[in-house]
Amino acid sequence: MIRIGILTSGGDCQSLNATMRGVAKALYRLFEDIEIVGFEDGYKGLIYANYRVMKPEEFSGILTKGGTILGTSRQPFKLMRIPDGNGLDKVEAMKHTYKNLKLECLVVLGGNGSQKTANLLREEGLNVVSLPKTIDNDLWGTDITFGFQSAVNVATNAIDCIHTTAASHGRVFIVEVMGHKVGWLTLYAGIAGGADIILVPEIPYDLNVIIEALKSRTREGKKFSIIAVAEGAISKENSVLTKKELKEKKKNGVIYPSVAYEIGAQITERTGQEVRVTVPGHMQRGGEPCPYDRVISTRLGAEAAKLIKNREYGYMVAVSNNEIVKAPLAEVAGKLKTVDPECSIVKEAKMIGISFGDK
Ligand code: F6P
Repeated sequence: MIRIGILTSGGDCQSLNATMRGVAKALYRLFEDIEIVGFEDGYKGLIYANYRVMKPEEFSGILTKGGTILGTSRQPFKLMRIPDGNGLDKVEAMKHTYKNLKLECLVVLGGNGSQKTANLLREEGLNVVSLPKTIDNDLWGTDITFGFQSAVNVATNAIDCIHTTAASHGRVFIVEVMGHKVGWLTLYAGIAGGADIILVPEIPYDLNVIIEALKSRTREGKKFSIIAVAEGAISKENSVLTKKELKEKKKNGVIYPSVAYEIGAQITERTGQEVRVTVPGHMQRGGEPCPYDRVISTRLGAEAAKLIKNREYGYMVAVSNNEIVKAPLAEVAGKLKTVDPECSIVKEAKMIGISFGDK
């Protein structure tokens, strides 16, 4: 009998269950005698040995179900080597659970921090296969992460809804999109939702440019404007400050709950236009996975199972040119995939007149 452990780690997304279903269904077909052990709430389950032996039926009927049937939690990588409140060494505890259960392999569905921990466990001698999860699409080594397209759908839908009310009232609307430190989600949802201005962390904005873009729309007779802003967007002047300087500046200035409100206040002050801010927030991670994600999750899951069958460990399954490939964890874990300001999608968006607030 072969026993495989599986866990979902970090912020959830719509397609986690679809991915686990893909892994499990393929594993049950590849191995005659196999047991899948599910760890509860991510690495926490591995650390504290909270697990359950999964019944094959648990992986049925979950293709369209959002969230994760195993639960998840954030266990920051930087704290992994620091003992917990009771002095427990977390890395040793994870190794102990793995060995105690006589696992053949651990399957990790996770984003950036979780991939780093997966790589750490690989370095510690465990057999690991990981899958690229995150609505942020910021994992190095894969063209796309599962969860991203579903989040693009939600954020686009939010911008679509805002369009009609913005047009009725002739207002400037700012929609703040998730994405952590990168702008993929904002870029795609902004283009799909027909935003007039898109602000991403990789392209620091100049408020004067934003104001000029808004004024130019007014001169053209456009009564409303939509700005899609990434939660991590930053102004040109702030982008050159150190973390410490930025903290100090915030301490001495007005504290806005988010960058969208900060930009909004400045637009009102400088243009007199009526501004509203909408933050779809965690809605972007909720609900059911879109068809694209269901397909990519199924494919990634099946290929992860194949790696296990072939005893090829230490890889993250990934997407490259619409093919599923294996990326060595040692090479990809912890590296951020950011939006290149010179990439073609940004250039094409600019060609149709979308402003990125830079020039
Ligand atoms: O990484 C996914 C993500 O949704 C980011 O886009 C966002 O910055 C963060 O997680 C929010 O984290 P939490 O759910 O812990 O508030």
